[in-house]
Amino acid sequence: MSIILAIESSCDETSVAVCNNGKITANVIANQTIHENYGGVIPELASRVHQQNIVPAVQQALSIAKVNKNDLNGVAFTQGPGLLGSLLVGVSFAKSFALALNLPLISVNHMQAHILAHFIDDPKPKFPFLCLTVSGGHTQIVLVKDYFDMEIVGETLDDAAGEAFDKTAKILNLPYPGGPLIDKHAQQGNPLAFKFPEPQIQGLNYSFSGFKTAILYFIRDSQKENPLFVEENLADICASVQYSIINILLNKLKKSAKQYNIKEIAIAGGVSANSGLRNSLSQLKDSLGWNVYIPAFQYCTDNAGMIAIAGYQKFLAGDFVKQDVSPMARMNF
Ligand code: KG4
Ligand code: ZN
Repeated sequence: MSIILAIESSCDETSVAVCNNGKITANVIANQTIHENYGGVIPELASRVHQQNIVPAVQQALSIAKVNKNDLNGVAFTQGPGLLGSLLVGVSFAKSFALALNLPLISVNHMQAHILAHFIDDPKPKFPFLCLTVSGGHTQIVLVKDYFDMEIVGETLDDAAGEAFDKTAKILNLPYPGGPLIDKHAQQGNPLAFKFPEPQIQGLNYSFSGFKTAILYFIRDSQKENPLFVEENLADICASVQYSIINILLNKLKKSAKQYNIKEIAIAGGVSANSGLRNSLSQLKDSLGWNVYIPAFQYCTDNAGMIAIAGYQKFLAGDFVKQDVSPMARMNF
């Protein structure tokens, strides 16, 4: 028997989950709306809201999971990467909770957890598999050999794919976070209406900063000719930008699948909630004979369910940390 409580507080979601023998029985996510006014996450505000949210979120998760705190067997927390002030709230809570209840403490790397979210529901990928991990801060192609034996084989040299969505949204005057809104408008638009250049980066790495600048100039020039260009073409712009980002992402993923001769392919992270990416990947399943793994929506964007499942695997392996552990993980797995 093992019941793990997990805390995720790396960015602007305070999330608490319970994993009972490998099953997620609660996954509470308290979103922070305060950042909408600023067009991006304000770290100092995020950590303050985490402090307000954390105790109620823990109580709610225990109540949903119908678990008493005395029945817990371990406490897992996100040990970065993320915002230091936000991480500190989660790790400080986890440390004191574990100390008070005499429980083992388990540290989890946020990016590994996004990938391990695939082990919450069936079907689960078989090792080795390739995972395209696309979030607001990272874009990585990861060769996953075992639960905690992972190798980054390609990654962005500058902006992340989520940032490309969010920055495009900002250019279009859409509120933060823009990814889901671009996705929504794109569903009514023509993905071939406008063309954007694909970055020419060698190997399996990505670059999105030039792409973002190309969009900025395209919108600026089009608005010079027609000040209502964005309003009149919003759906087509969103569909075309989304189509281009997906093409960039999938072209390198295809290349890595070929290079490593792997047909077990997964996606993870906030951008894996994108309907266009999910559809395009499903189509590759048939054309390339891939086995494709796409997480349930609730496990794509930041959530403690993924920390709990990763924590559960570490619990089984007896991989614990001490009270003096740093709140910030090393970037490498
Ligand atoms: O993994 P995540 O929740 O947080 C980080 O670890 O960064 O990812 C957040 C990112 C944001 O950039 C957000 O705009 C993007 O995921 N995102 C989406 C969608 N839902 C979230 N991007 C495109 N389409 C979506 N449906
Ligand atoms: Zn994330």
